[in-house]
Amino acid sequence: MPFSTTRSQALFERALQVMVEGGSSPSRGPANYGAYPLFIQRGQGSHIYDVDGNAYVDWMMAYGALPLGHAHPLVVEAIQEAAATGTLFAAATEIEVEVAELIQQLVPGAERVRFANTGTEAAMAAIRLARGYTGRPKFIKFEGHYHGWYDDFLVNAHPHPPVSLGHRRNPVKIADSSGLNRRALEDTVVVPWNDLEAVERAVDTWRGQIAAIITEPVMANMGVIPPAPGYLQGLRELSRAHDILLILDETVTGFRVAPGGCQEYFGVTADIATFGKALGAGLPVAGFVGRAELMQALEWGGVLHYGTQNASRVGLFAARASLRELARDDGAAFRHMRGLAEHLCGGLRDLFAQTGTAAIVQHVGPMLQIMFTDRLAIRDYREFCAHVDRARYQRFAWALFEQGVYMTPSAALHSVVTLAHTEEDVQRTLQAVGRVL
Ligand SMILES: Cc1ncc(COP(=O)(O)O)c(C=O)c1O
Repeated sequence: MPFSTTRSQALFERALQVMVEGGSSPSRGPANYGAYPLFIQRGQGSHIYDVDGNAYVDWMMAYGALPLGHAHPLVVEAIQEAAATGTLFAAATEIEVEVAELIQQLVPGAERVRFANTGTEAAMAAIRLARGYTGRPKFIKFEGHYHGWYDDFLVNAHPHPPVSLGHRRNPVKIADSSGLNRRALEDTVVVPWNDLEAVERAVDTWRGQIAAIITEPVMANMGVIPPAPGYLQGLRELSRAHDILLILDETVTGFRVAPGGCQEYFGVTADIATFGKALGAGLPVAGFVGRAELMQALEWGGVLHYGTQNASRVGLFAARASLRELARDDGAAFRHMRGLAEHLCGGLRDLFAQTGTAAIVQHVGPMLQIMFTDRLAIRDYREFCAHVDRARYQRFAWALFEQGVYMTPSAALHSVVTLAHTEEDVQRTLQAVGRVL
């Protein structure tokens, strides 16, 4: 049967009558998907199926929120159990203690755990906690890093033309949205990533005023950009020397690169780490963790963090099932994911070489992204903006849809290998990529 998406098209036209861009987030609409997005109907294991009946190997996996894949039986069973016994009490529950204990066992430095609903909320609370605890107003945020849609973070998180970025010693702050609080970015110090000297200069300039450095440990909102060797350790030493808190935003990397996230993977301990996506195995569960003495500042709302939906019971049942599965057999799930990612990346590189395509693949553990570029590596936001052909990537991803492979259509996002993926999925994908190239 020829590839057809007429039902998606019709649904999109209907959606436009009730929703802006036909959906609830710009990343799901025409900005990433062209004329209209594919409407997904169901998912099973490593595959998704759209409303026209097309099947795809899914490498996007809800932005990595599904480390076990779609509709994993243990997660389904857990959700059913929770739903059948009461979805929300907004009161103390045993499941909350159990999942916090699991996190404490898996994540280095997680002496205390606080649950939220989204990565945005966790990062917001982490910054407030850092300001409240240190009594300092400013924080360092890196170019190209995304920490959610809270006003204070919404700067230089989207790709822009290189000429608009200013000098790297004094980056131009480019707000990512209209409507921000007038002073929201005043205390946000923007610095290029993977450059310790730049951070030293900023700390020197704002001596005694910086509460925290917040960083994605792997840059995951400009494709996949790994930290330079020793960079995260350098941030750790520098922040400690100046009594600045180090916040690792593990929304993307947590429970994905290793059971203990990037703290375990790169051997660096943060003061506060935030989690989202993979924690809830498809349900909105997020959280932040840290030293007991520091987290204690939340007591009695001293540093305020509230939420009717915090520690969602259904979400935590799913989280418990997922974390147990991920932690099983000494992290066998992570070995599976990393192994398949190596095969996929190796196969892609071979195809680029065979077809003479100017492209690279960057990856960390199970996270990977293809970048159409003549560079051997992309090391930061500025290089991404200047040297990655994003339009070409988008055409490539759309062409892959027709071949039954679903990678994110945005060059700034990435693909992720899950426990549900198989060697057969890798081989099918490589054949599809070969045809598209
Ligand atoms: C590193 C990082 N932090 C925070 C967030 C925000 O998470 P959420 O979309 O759950 O609010 C994201 C979302 O993509 C992210 O990539």
